[in-house]
Amino acid sequence: MGDRREVMLDLARRALAHFEAGTTDQADAPLEMPVAAYLNAERYAEERERIFKHLPLALALSLELRAPGDYKAVTALETPVLLVRGEDDKVRAFLNVCRHRGARLCADGTSHARVITCPYHAWVYDLDGRLAGQYGENTFGEIDKSAHGLIELACAERCGLVWVMLTPGERFDVDAWLGDFAAELDSLELSDWHLYEQRELPGPGWKVTMDGYLEAYHHNLVHRETVGKHTVGNLLVLDTWGPHQRLTFGRKSLGDLAGTDESEWQPGEHIRLIHSGFPNLSVSGILGDHCLVSQIFPGVTADATVTVQTILVADEPLTDAARAASAGFSDMVLEAVQVEDYGIGFGIQSGLDAIADTAFVFGRNEPAVQNYHGWIRRFMTQEGTRPW
Ligand code: FES
Ligand SMILES: [Fe+2]
Repeated sequence: MGDRREVMLDLARRALAHFEAGTTDQADAPLEMPVAAYLNAERYAEERERIFKHLPLALALSLELRAPGDYKAVTALETPVLLVRGEDDKVRAFLNVCRHRGARLCADGTSHARVITCPYHAWVYDLDGRLAGQYGENTFGEIDKSAHGLIELACAERCGLVWVMLTPGERFDVDAWLGDFAAELDSLELSDWHLYEQRELPGPGWKVTMDGYLEAYHHNLVHRETVGKHTVGNLLVLDTWGPHQRLTFGRKSLGDLAGTDESEWQPGEHIRLIHSGFPNLSVSGILGDHCLVSQIFPGVTADATVTVQTILVADEPLTDAARAASAGFSDMVLEAVQVEDYGIGFGIQSGLDAIADTAFVFGRNEPAVQNYHGWIRRFMTQEGTRPW
């Protein structure tokens, strides 16, 4: 893992240099973004389709489906999806819809089963989606069972995450999609964490919400009492892999590194990494032994999202002190996101109509926000941007 230490040392060096100079990584110039990009309903419908339904989304953590028979049902973009780990250890994705008359097979959430049984008339599917049995088969009449298996969605497991294409029949190449960002995600060893808590938060519109995940410019003001306590405001070290980004923030102790020998540095204690997978994933290592995974799902209309917020702990908390630390972390990120970030966001969202003809301006110190919108534009305007 010497390489990893080198990566972390380099990030700490870059962050420290900014800290000492009062600077940050920057885009070339401020960028204007018409408010219409946040409001226009037709444009939003197209973006939902092209960005969220024709690119792979991380719909689950591998650790939610550890063993054969573990499954997770999740509704994303109004698409009911069933993720199942098969006897062969492979995770498959299906529409969570019975091939008889469309009943929802499994309630949203995680559980375990040997077979998937429809609650309506008890058709039974194997873990690999094949129709294995029909209740009252001798009365039903003959059908081709092989043509009535569950409808499969393209799915791949990489980096401790399960990636799914929501459009049936649409393939993708997960390695091409992630590129070298996969090694970055792998370094988080997401499969080794313990899932402490998962919850859904209603949020403002997709772009208003995502913008807030992509800069440290607001941290000192908005998060004074929560995550801002741990973060140097307006300091960002940014690296990109295509549309995916790694944001490095400084922890409050960053300045302690000055004047000390690099061989003694524990860089992870002084910087904080956020891995932002396009278009809606954020993995944020706020404290070393706690991690926040956020999946932002756009709503039916442009003014609403649902965020699935998952709290991971390095080890299952077994003592009172460990439980208190995890509960404290969970409460802090809930406050920071639901009250602080989304409080500001709902305020922005509610004022957009009134300023529909104007433009926002993203600063040079908000390069990750600029990149994000640049990639939205690319995916919306250029055919063949997808790498498969
Ligand atoms: S709808 Fe599933 S068995 Fe009838
Ligand atoms: Fe924030």
